[in-house]
Amino acid sequence: MKAPIRIAVTGAAGQISYSLLFRIANGDMLTREQPIILQLLDIPQAQQTLRGVAMELEDCVFPMLQQVIVTDDPKVAFRDAEIVLLIGARPRSKGMERNDLIEINAGTFAEQGKILNAFAAPHVKILVVGNPANTNALIVIRNAPDLNPKNVSSMMRLDHNRAIAQVARKLSQPIGNIKKMVVWGNHSDTQFPDLSHAEIRGRKILDILPDHNWIESEFIPTVQKRGTVVIETRGLSSAASAANAVIGHMHDWILGSHHDDWVTMSVLSDGSYDIPAGLVFGFPVTCHNGDYQIVQNLPISKLGHRHMLESYRELLKESEQIKHLLG
Ligand code: NAD
Ligand code: LMR
Repeated sequence: MKAPIRIAVTGAAGQISYSLLFRIANGDMLTREQPIILQLLDIPQAQQTLRGVAMELEDCVFPMLQQVIVTDDPKVAFRDAEIVLLIGARPRSKGMERNDLIEINAGTFAEQGKILNAFAAPHVKILVVGNPANTNALIVIRNAPDLNPKNVSSMMRLDHNRAIAQVARKLSQPIGNIKKMVVWGNHSDTQFPDLSHAEIRGRKILDILPDHNWIESEFIPTVQKRGTVVIETRGLSSAASAANAVIGHMHDWILGSHHDDWVTMSVLSDGSYDIPAGLVFGFPVTCHNGDYQIVQNLPISKLGHRHMLESYRELLKESEQIKHLLG
């Protein structure tokens, strides 16, 4: 039997975690051959709820779940963790933009970055989900100087999945036929869901789509605003779909992306596509052996550049807002 992997999850008593932990324990993220130990963190006021979640995990008798640790101390949660899912943060409510959360949540990520630097396994892989996710990931990177910045990413897989869902519906195609989607930029309303490289069974979607006006008039705004519309409709921010995106993101990062496809991950920019280095930006990536590579040399239209620049400028502004936390 393989050695267990320690997975730390913050915000473990919250909504996303309630849809996520049982799937991780079931093996959906790392397969059913990989034993795991869950190290669950939440704030002191949420400890009772968290203990209840731990009881339910126990009662599921998942064969690969070796141990559940429940704590309000990040040092305990992050100790020797090889995978860390930073979900714990306030979600926005109706009428708020994700950016409104920056002052509320940024301090948490600075503190957790420092603790991860000291206590997590040196090769730990960290996914930031708590909003504003890209800038929070930048805060973690800058506060964890001993960790490889390539081992920190933030989640735009939900946006990627939302974009695929819209196209599948529009063209009445099975989800699995749609490849090479990408959502560039920030996990915010400025993100750029980009159909121009997407394919259905090897054919460019742009050659199949009868109505190209649909892209600017419906596709892009629908994907950009999907989080807001879910909040307006459900009364709470998306949780099960976010948990599903966490599973997909981590599965592909660790076990590899599909050979004829790529995925969207927000990672530290390195100058690719004229996005200046040093911000956490959504790019198309392929993953092999636990590492990601930004897909290079995709042609970008003028309109695409305009959208990407807008998202870049927003990220730059966010990073200036929290520059005192950038170490
Ligand atoms: P929630 O309010 O249901 O749960 C958040 C949990 O985090 C709570 O249990 C809270 O006590 C805990 N928490 C707060 N501060 C903490 C800290 N310092 N340490 C540990 N735990 C802490 O919220 P949710 O619906 O689970 O959403 C969590 C975050 O994920 C929000 O910021 C939300 O906006 C974000 N989100 C991101 C995406 C994405 O695609 N990136 C998608 C959905 C939600
Ligand atoms: C989402 O995209 O659903 C999340 O980021 C939650 C939100 O605030 O929109």
